[in-house]
Amino acid sequence: MRTARLLALAAGAAGLAAVLSACEGLFVRDPGERLWRKHCAECHGLDAAGNTPRYMGNAYADLTDSSWRIAAPDRGSLEAVVREGVFGQMPSFDRLSREELDLLLDHLAALRGERY
Ligand code: HEC
Repeated sequence: MRTARLLALAAGAAGLAAVLSACEGLFVRDPGERLWRKHCAECHGLDAAGNTPRYMGNAYADLTDSSWRIAAPDRGSLEAVVREGVFGQMPSFDRLSREELDLLLDHLAALRGERY
């Protein structure tokens, strides 16, 4: 009897943990970070260092250093890469609104430790 109750409790806790981790992104308050998690983190990582299973080893997926292949580290050029994508490597994000793009690039600047 006691074991059954303990098991039920453990199952409940595990279920709750799963639900909480699934909702983690929902509790992020910064809109730029939310957009980053939604659109970019899968490939560039939460911290933009590119250490994701998919792109580990591609130095250009690391957006925190100062080695760039296509983008120069200015807003206009970063924006162009995001809008156009990188052939065969990165999808284009041409549906983002002006505001969303600004929030995303602000967030990237913050991750890079830049002031904006
Ligand atoms: C499907 C994976 C994927 C997604 C999603 C993705 N990227 Fe990329 N991105 C890459 C890869 C891979 C590269 C490096 C391409 C190369 O080798 O030149 C890259 C390159 C870049 C570059 C240029 C880096 C350079 O060295 O010039 C920028 C800027 C960039 N991504 C920003 C973003 C932003 C912002 C988002 C979200 C809106 C995003 N990416 C979403 C895979 C992705």
